[in-house]
Amino acid sequence: MGLAAVGAACKEDRHGQSFADIRYSIRRKTRRFPRQGLVRSRLTLTKYVINGGKTLNGEVTISGAKNAAVAIVPAALLADGPVRLENVPKIIDVTLQMEIMRELGAQIRQINATTVEIQNTQNPSLKPHELERKLRASYYLLGVLLGKYGFAEVAMPGGCNFGGVRPIDQHIKGFEALGAKVTLPKGGYIRVEAPEDGLHGAHIYFDVVTVGATMNIMLAAVLAKGQTIMENCAKEPHIVDLANFLNAMGADVKGAGTDVIKIRGVESLHGGSYSIIPDQIEAGTFMAAVAACGGSVLVKNVIPRHLECITAKLREMSVEVTEFDDAVLVRREGKLTKTNIKTLPYPGFPTDMQPQMTTALCLAEGTSIITEGIWGSRYRYTEELTRMGANIHVDGAIAVVEGVRELNGAPVRAHDLRAGAAMVIAGLAAKGVTEVEQVQNIERGYETLVEKFVALGADMYRSEIPESAENK
Ligand code: EPZ
Repeated sequence: MGLAAVGAACKEDRHGQSFADIRYSIRRKTRRFPRQGLVRSRLTLTKYVINGGKTLNGEVTISGAKNAAVAIVPAALLADGPVRLENVPKIIDVTLQMEIMRELGAQIRQINATTVEIQNTQNPSLKPHELERKLRASYYLLGVLLGKYGFAEVAMPGGCNFGGVRPIDQHIKGFEALGAKVTLPKGGYIRVEAPEDGLHGAHIYFDVVTVGATMNIMLAAVLAKGQTIMENCAKEPHIVDLANFLNAMGADVKGAGTDVIKIRGVESLHGGSYSIIPDQIEAGTFMAAVAACGGSVLVKNVIPRHLECITAKLREMSVEVTEFDDAVLVRREGKLTKTNIKTLPYPGFPTDMQPQMTTALCLAEGTSIITEGIWGSRYRYTEELTRMGANIHVDGAIAVVEGVRELNGAPVRAHDLRAGAAMVIAGLAAKGVTEVEQVQNIERGYETLVEKFVALGADMYRSEIPESAENK
């Protein structure tokens, strides 16, 4: 069955179910994850309770990269044979994606804690489907299903809210360049459909450097007819990881990690095995925590080259960082000193490390200036830090941080994934007790964060209490 025919068949699946019925049934099934705590029931309030002021010492092993996994896991649907993925992080975003892939007919087997085997159905029962708006990376299934079956419909992506929309105009531009028809039917969906004769190669120039669109167009183009050239591409490590995965399955992707990526479409992708790279942002989060708390921690299972910008900034802050082949040793004994940070696309300083480093700089001697170069203003978390005694002045994309002698524990919220990580770092460094709420935002992207910090000497635990009337 050619792509177009499969695409057309998606209007009705082989049981003759209508499009609307199918979408409703997927929606109902995926409602198993209540809106807030995707993993927790609506009836429990989960928070981290941290008794701060202790240094961090010992070793921590970094998990697989979230922002690589959320693209590579769905990409496994492009392959005709079984795909074995190793170093897959056990985090909510990946768990949700696998849940929805199962709804789409994929068989997914958990081989061990971090290894899964994904087998797409040979007679695709893939159907148009709806994804949780919460999952920003849900949009990668657009590229995968469009590339594989010529059709997809996905709820407009959600993800961390930095106080503004998270546009997808460059994704749409790329899909249309490949020949797809993109419509936004009512109800907040985005629908993409390949032409009868399938997608064709194109020359695409991204107006902005965008990780998501670079990944999504790569996913759609690997099975398109002819060559696709993408210019002004993002170069993050997870972009290279996705390209390496696709090539291991028989794709022809060249130039990932540079501004220009060239893809020659192939007839099909075969199954195989692949190990996801370590998470540079999780590693950076632990490095920033040592900077804030003091101590000596060996951060293992990392690629030091991916951490170069973070290492350079920490050294400017008088933190000692020693690099090994697949680990870095981070030590801070004396005073932290100020530095300035501007977040930029890779290899610039990663925006996903901005909240964590700003938190450490709250305790540095002197005045630091932070410029958010990617997400307009990503500073909502500074309100929480101010309640802990930080001295931060925010004006648009700029935050001016005056170092203070100490932070004091307080009840705070994890407004988004990396803001939540920053709250944990602040609580670990502060005097007294900090309670971090909305931790499901943290567990979207960090695997066993509490256990990892406790192993380094942190005095913290996860508290789950039934949400009853009195504690509403
Ligand atoms: C990815 O988001 C990451 N998420 C984000 O990490 C990360 O902050 C971001 O890349 C930048 O590195 C995942 O990988 C799941 P973009 P993405 O497209 O792809 C603009 C985390 O903490 N833009 O690179 O959504 C956009 O407004 C998360 O792990 C358009 O204008 O980010 C932004 O200013 C948070 N049009 C800039 O480009 C588009 O079509 C970069 O966005 C797309 C993006």
